[in-house]
Amino acid sequence: MNLLLLAGTGEARELARALDRAGVPAVASLAGATRHPKPLAIPTRVGGFGDAQGFADYLRAEKISHVLDATHPFASRMSLRSAEVCAGMSVDYAQVLRPAWEPEAGDRWEMIAREDDAAEYIAEDATVFLATGRQTLEGFRNLEGRRLILRQIDPPTAPFPWEGGEFLIGRPPFSVEDEVSVFTRLGVDWLIVKNAGGVASRSKLDAARQLGLSVAMIARPAQPDARKFETVEAAMDWVRRHG
Ligand SMILES: NC(=O)c1ccc[n+]([C@@H]2O[C@H](COP(=O)([O-])OP(=O)(O)OC[C@H]3O[C@@H](n4cnc5c(N)ncnc54)[C@H](OP(=O)(O)O)[C@@H]3O)[C@@H](O)[C@H]2O)c1
Repeated sequence: MNLLLLAGTGEARELARALDRAGVPAVASLAGATRHPKPLAIPTRVGGFGDAQGFADYLRAEKISHVLDATHPFASRMSLRSAEVCAGMSVDYAQVLRPAWEPEAGDRWEMIAREDDAAEYIAEDATVFLATGRQTLEGFRNLEGRRLILRQIDPPTAPFPWEGGEFLIGRPPFSVEDEVSVFTRLGVDWLIVKNAGGVASRSKLDAARQLGLSVAMIARPAQPDARKFETVEAAMDWVRRHG
C-alpha cells in the first residue's frame, strides 16, 4: 500500500498520526489554504494539483495505491474530482465524512441551500457572525447593510470588501464558553454556519442555543458516490485491511 491522505481537517490530522503509528507508507496533501498550518505527522506536500490530469499524473508518478480523502465536507470540488480520477485509474478511494449536524430542542435554525439565501431571513439591522471562512465571502454580498463579522484564521490581506463588514481573527478550536463570550461581546443576532458536522466546531451551535441566537445553516454540497467512513477509526480499519 502507498497511501495519499487528502488533508485539511482535524480528522486528517488524527489520521496522519494513526498512519504514522501504524507504519503505513503514506503522504499527506494540503491545499495551502491556511498560511501557517500546524505540521502533520507524516510527510506532507502542499498546493493544488492543477486539474484532474495533474492529480492523475501525481498518483501515477508517486505510485499511489489508495487515496483517503479527509478534506472538509464543503471541499466538494476536490472530493468529486478525486473520486472520479481514482475510479478511472483503479486506485482505491475512500472518503472520511463526519455526519452532518441535526437541530436539537431549543435550536433556532433556518436551513438554506446557498450563501445568498441567508439575506431572505436576516433583518436589515441585524449583527451577523459569519463562521463560514473567507473563501465564500462574496456569496454574502447581498447582506450588505447589516453589520457583518467574518472570522478567519489568517490576518486579512485586504480591507473588508464592502461597507459594514469586519474581520475577526481566530484559530479553532473554540470552546462553548469562548463562543458565548465572543457572540455576547459583539452583540451577535445571527450566525451563519456551514453544516460541517463534527464535535470540534459544534461549540458555536451550542453557544447559539444557549444565547437564543438564530442560525442560518448552509446545507452540504453533493458528495461523491464512493466508499465513506464516518470516523477516523473506521477509516483506519479499512487501511489495515488493505495494508
Ligand atoms: N470549504 C471549507 O469550508 C473548508 C473548511 C476547512 C478546511 N478546508 C480545507 O481547505 C482545503 C481547500 O478547500 P476548498 O473548500 O477550497 O476545497 P475545494 O473547492 O474542493 O478545492 C479547491 C482546490 O483546492 C485544491 N485542494 C483542495 N484540497 C486539497 C488537498 N487536500 N491537497 C491539495 N490540493 C487541494 C485543489 O486544487 P487543484 O484543482 O489545483 O488540485 C482544489 O481544486 C481543503 O483541503 C479542505 O479540506 C475547507
